[in-house]
Amino acid sequence: MGTAVVPHPCMASPVRPDGLRIGAGLMLDIRPMVAADSEALQAHVRGLSMRSRHNRYLGGVNELARAEVERLLGGAGGTVFPLVAELVECGRRTMVGEAVYAIDRSAGTVEFALSVRDDWQGRGIGAALLGAIAVRAGKAGAGLLHGETLRGNDAMLALAAKVGAVEARHRDDPRLVRIERRLAAASAALAA
Ligand SMILES: CC(C)(COP(=O)(O)OP(=O)(O)OC[C@H]1O[C@@H](n2cnc3c(N)ncnc32)[C@H](O)[C@@H]1OP(=O)(O)O)[C@@H](O)C(=O)NCCC(=O)NCCS
Repeated sequence: MGTAVVPHPCMASPVRPDGLRIGAGLMLDIRPMVAADSEALQAHVRGLSMRSRHNRYLGGVNELARAEVERLLGGAGGTVFPLVAELVECGRRTMVGEAVYAIDRSAGTVEFALSVRDDWQGRGIGAALLGAIAVRAGKAGAGLLHGETLRGNDAMLALAAKVGAVEARHRDDPRLVRIERRLAAASAALAA
């Protein structure tokens, strides 16, 4: 009788081809967030340091309101898209970042916001999330990617500069800085 071949758990961890290798045996996978991620999303938000939560949500938030989670994960009429960044190790996935982008079809723009778990900051995950959003925004035909951040959020401002975004004055709130990055060749996709 032959011996059954049991796959090693590390061989059963499919990651997209654009996955980022982030350490020995660790891959980062960025994928659309789905309804089943709602608990992990809340745990991620609760697990952020007070400072990171303040920077992400521009104020005092402990966790997301249920209505906000439903809006994010319910499709919001096809204009709001949440992404999750997960570390994949031997088939085990751990959420280490999240991002949301919103498409304004009439303006041809995409707005973003994101956060990375504190103990995983500074390892390229924010840049990978922003890159993933830029690719998706470009595919949607947007000509401009933009976000807003608190004036003192040096990490976000440095990340923005690194990906070629520029700072602009925020029209409504002097505490905030608007971040803008032009995207190559907006197509007619948004108008479709
Ligand atoms: C802002 C944030 C998303 C950056 O994510 P990250 O994974 O730490 O960033 P990365 O490791 O990809 O850094 C990319 C670049 O940004 C810059 N950067 C990131 N953190 C920095 C810091 N604390 N100080 C200075 N520069 C920093 C660096 O240029 C870095 O590139 P390098 O490592 O090659 O020098 C993360 O700090 C975070 O989640 N903060 C709390 C939430 C928040 O502020 N969200 C933004 C408002 S929407």
